[in-house]
Amino acid sequence: MNKVMIRRSFLFCFMCMPLLAFAQSKREVNYDESNIPAYVLPDVLRCEDGRRVTTAKEWEKRRRPELLKMLSEQEYGVTPRGKVKTSYEVLTERPLALGGKATMREVMMTFGVGVNEVKALMAVYVPNQRKGRVPVFIAYNFQGNRYVTGDTTLLPSPHMLRPLHPHDNLPGWRTAIEPFPVENIIDRGYALVTLLYEDICPDYPEGASRSVASLFPAEESGTAWQAIGAWAWGSSRVADWVCRQPWVNRKQLIVIGHSRQGKAALWAGAQDERFQVVISNNSGCGGAALSKRQFGETVGIINGSFPHWFCRNFRNYNDKEQNLPFDQHELVALVAPRHAYVASASEDRWADQKGEYLAAYYASPVWALYGMNGPSSAEMPPVGQQVMTDIGYHMRPGKHSLAPYDWQRYMDFCDKVFGR
Ligand code: GCU
Repeated sequence: MNKVMIRRSFLFCFMCMPLLAFAQSKREVNYDESNIPAYVLPDVLRCEDGRRVTTAKEWEKRRRPELLKMLSEQEYGVTPRGKVKTSYEVLTERPLALGGKATMREVMMTFGVGVNEVKALMAVYVPNQRKGRVPVFIAYNFQGNRYVTGDTTLLPSPHMLRPLHPHDNLPGWRTAIEPFPVENIIDRGYALVTLLYEDICPDYPEGASRSVASLFPAEESGTAWQAIGAWAWGSSRVADWVCRQPWVNRKQLIVIGHSRQGKAALWAGAQDERFQVVISNNSGCGGAALSKRQFGETVGIINGSFPHWFCRNFRNYNDKEQNLPFDQHELVALVAPRHAYVASASEDRWADQKGEYLAAYYASPVWALYGMNGPSSAEMPPVGQQVMTDIGYHMRPGKHSLAPYDWQRYMDFCDKVFGR
């Protein structure tokens, strides 16, 4: 081997290291209910000092802030409070998109100034036939605005113009979803804002320099935010723009995300109370699924495969779920008294469907403080049966995805919540 070849193979091995870790981490997964270790879930209403909150006011004053702090410091990282300069520019406007049913705009968000700026491109669809202001779904996509809307004439998302990264070719690294049923969303009177999640923060460990996080003072501590924190922050910046639009009903903002974005949507909804409905589609480990069940993907596996998603402190619980002072039902609970929706897919054992359902169930005592209800039974509803309490749930037959079936269920739920 000559020197160049040696250097190349060394570089190749170096670049593949995270990929190998990713492949290996899929080993030794428990899919057997009888192998779930005995565990005790923290009582969502019990404060760190042992006292239990019994009123909505106490929840808001004491327990909610305590939980937000805990999840920030131990799981997702602390979202910086500072602001970065942000501008929004409408690049395209088509008043007769979708055969005249919608107005489509492409809006570029620019964060920061000069060499450090980060750009993210929103595709915005607003129904033309409407009486008054409309509810809006804010949804990241994974393959770019063109793919997810089916409109190949849309501008490429900024991240699409970057050189490929080795992770881009790794099977299973990128999550895939079906195109969004945009026309149907419009027909049902909802607006849609979608953008490629990697415009906000690229999804690989070395992506931090292109993330919106790079616009804030560097932080090296175990509580520093990473990709999920950045994606959640990005949804809030979309909401900032949306709230200034004349067509939107500001009390009807819906944040929806699939899988890794289901995790980010829950975290966005936990922190930003403008989101009235928070939808977690197949979000799994680090999303809605209870970590202490250790079924399917576990904390150790996820931190090994995706070291850039959670804060470093979360690694303290790798293979030590029993030491977690919280669990994911408490993330869902932070959405109360707004509306949360958790959904699973019947073939998606990796995401632990039962753990996802139980998180919704065990979050319910917080809604009860407001005279509201979550699912009333710890027994899972049958596949295809929708739970329509103040927390929604369904299990779609089929694989891990965000499918038109899921969108229908979400719109049914939002129709009910918004009294449409
Ligand atoms: C991987 C990962 C999951 C994640 C999923 C996705 O499977 O292990 O935690 O939810 O990707 O984003 O599709």
